[in-house]
Amino acid sequence: YGDFNQKIDYVFKIVLIGDSAVGKSQLLARFARNEFNLESKATIGVEFQTKTLVIDNKNVKAQIWDTAGRERYRAVTSAYYRGGLRNSGDMLIRTLLYMLIGNKCNLGTLRAVPIEDAQEFAERENLYFMETSALEKTNVESAFMTTLTEIY
Ligand code: GTP
Ligand code: MG
Repeated sequence: YGDFNQKIDYVFKIVLIGDSAVGKSQLLARFARNEFNLESKATIGVEFQTKTLVIDNKNVKAQIWDTAGRERYRAVTSAYYRGGLRNSGDMLIRTLLYMLIGNKCNLGTLRAVPIEDAQEFAERENLYFMETSALEKTNVESAFMTTLTEIY
């Protein structure tokens, strides 16, 4: 009964994929709950969280799946998102959109990938690209919002 005035117009699904320890879980924690944990534990299998936002006067529920980057869970996680891409509850997914995120941009000179290389790769592969920092809150909101707005 609590969601009386929370009519959901759209449910969009986002799946976070990437190597272990790149910061997927912390990006989601920052976006969904404005939390950050330096001692985050590696994800096992798949977890998900939802966040409801307003886009263009519509209530959009973002269902965000956080997958384990560890190799040993690869079979589980890929099964999850392959299944999820076909349908999400009662809705058929028609749009598939990829976004490339370079997280931990706060690390500056310790960065693993030069920004130019990432940009070039993104252009070549036709991906949206953004650098983020879950730690310093840089671009976290806008990375998710760009994705959701593009899906919308
Ligand atoms: P798996 O669950 O194993 O796939 O890893 P993950 O991608 O979910 O990584 P996780 O979010 O657990 O973060 C790994 C480590 O990086 C943790 O110690 C985080 O605190 C740290 N971390 C995450 N985001 C940032 C960031 O933006 N900057 C810095 N400096 N550290 C970060
Ligand atoms: Mg994780």
